[in-house]
Amino acid sequence: MCQLKADKFYVTTPIYYVNDQPHIGHAYTTILADVLARYYRSLDVPTFFLTGTDEHGQKVQRAAEEHGMTPREQCDVTVVRFMELWRELEITNDKFIRTTDEGHKEVVREAMQDLYDRDLIYRAEYRGCYCVPCERFFSIRDLKDGRCPECLREVAAITESNYFFRMSRYQEWLIKYIESHPNFIMPAFRANETLGFLRQPLNDLCVSRPKSRLSWGIELPFDSDYVCYVWFDALINYISGAGWKRNDEMFRCWWPTSCHLIGKDILTTHTVYWPIMLKAMGLEMPETIFAHGWWLTGREKMSKSRGNAINPMEMIKKYGVDAFRYFLMSEMSLGQDASFTEEAFVSRYNSDLANDLGNLLSRVVKMTLRYNSGIIPQPGLVTDEENTLNLMAANAVTGMENALRDMKLEQGIEAVMNAVRAGNRYLEKTAPWTLAKQGNHERLNTVLYTTANALRKVATLLHPVMPGKMNELRRALGIPEEQLEKCSITDLNQSTNSLTNLVMQDIDALFPRIREE
Ligand code: MSP
Repeated sequence: MCQLKADKFYVTTPIYYVNDQPHIGHAYTTILADVLARYYRSLDVPTFFLTGTDEHGQKVQRAAEEHGMTPREQCDVTVVRFMELWRELEITNDKFIRTTDEGHKEVVREAMQDLYDRDLIYRAEYRGCYCVPCERFFSIRDLKDGRCPECLREVAAITESNYFFRMSRYQEWLIKYIESHPNFIMPAFRANETLGFLRQPLNDLCVSRPKSRLSWGIELPFDSDYVCYVWFDALINYISGAGWKRNDEMFRCWWPTSCHLIGKDILTTHTVYWPIMLKAMGLEMPETIFAHGWWLTGREKMSKSRGNAINPMEMIKKYGVDAFRYFLMSEMSLGQDASFTEEAFVSRYNSDLANDLGNLLSRVVKMTLRYNSGIIPQPGLVTDEENTLNLMAANAVTGMENALRDMKLEQGIEAVMNAVRAGNRYLEKTAPWTLAKQGNHERLNTVLYTTANALRKVATLLHPVMPGKMNELRRALGIPEEQLEKCSITDLNQSTNSLTNLVMQDIDALFPRIREE
């Protein structure tokens, strides 16, 4: 993975098919990319975050036919759903690419022409099986019980003349590359999966579709009877979106990608096709291709076609965007599958957000208002109790940094929540309400300051996950409006950053408890 103090961070999501509305699976990858982008920005690392939509191919053409629209209309209607959802989810992508953008199409055509001129693309007769939902060809020996090995749906037998990319030529090179770059495919067990796939002979890749069968695609520059295979077109978004062949300065700045985030369903296209395409085009390899697991309903992958998908817009309306982002980021161990249930959502919300975090904030704000007119006091002598809480807060900072480096975000969040729980224990132990009664102002001041300071760290660390709520929290701590936008993890460890004399603002429950049904 990209080094935390790297000179840049370029992160991508898969570009999503516009055959249907977005669901939680799409929202998950995009939120994950957003959270990572926000963390790197808050570590002062220049960041570029690219997402977008995959608009060509048979899936989209079929959806258009079903909806009585032209493919272009299907794209224009559906892309808005994605854009609206990203706005609601407060996604901070720097660029949104559509593969129907003229600029992208031109770049794809140039790339194909170049490969064709160098004899890396050739024409041949093809016999095989095609899976429409996956948009992929398989040979008979690839099939599982006569069905698509990826989605287990029926495949169609096909014979036609097509153009092929000489992928097989690079098989040995790719095996060596993967073996000698342990961070290239993450988690490591996914690298083994790809290596397993590469143990079989690798076929050349069919990169064309005759227009007689599929017209919705980018026309091949060297044969107007064909369009480009949708995956070949789509993968190129990662370079066309970063300025390849059009803006050298931009491209030099961002390429190679620090992290391509993908779901495990598209491992082969990203860890076999894409590296080989890049190699053939003379480009550097991405630093990391990270495959996360699936959100499941019961034991099944959540997907529109299975009819078990949850609509993220409804979750946002019901529970708020920050709680939704928090749940997705904390509930899934990065790389593994996780199941999504509303009960699990409510239970985590109530325990982590309402009880632990919301409660800690409300206690410290109320007491500072009551005992010191809201002014955060100068702390007095520090005892073991303060040292314990300060250590937990410092551990949260390093825990989050390690989690980012190792792509174990949920562990970073857990380290922060441990600091929150330590904050509540600290208040129980030091009992500031008793100190106030006893008139022990110096000790009371220390307790109020130390708790506020731990909360400030927590809010900064959780800001990338829950930007809106953490700003409310920071506002309640009295952090001035002009400082709210700059939420810097780098600044956290600076001792000059004192909270003394900031004036706390009263706040309603940050995370009101949800009644469990
Ligand atoms: N268009 C291709 C990707 C091309 S990238 C050059 C595609 N699109 S898709 O709309 O099907 O989206 C796939 C991605 O959505 C997955 O890789 C994953 O990131 C996300 N998810 C879709 N369903 C998911 C779950 N149930 N769980 C988690 N994420 C999944 O494939």
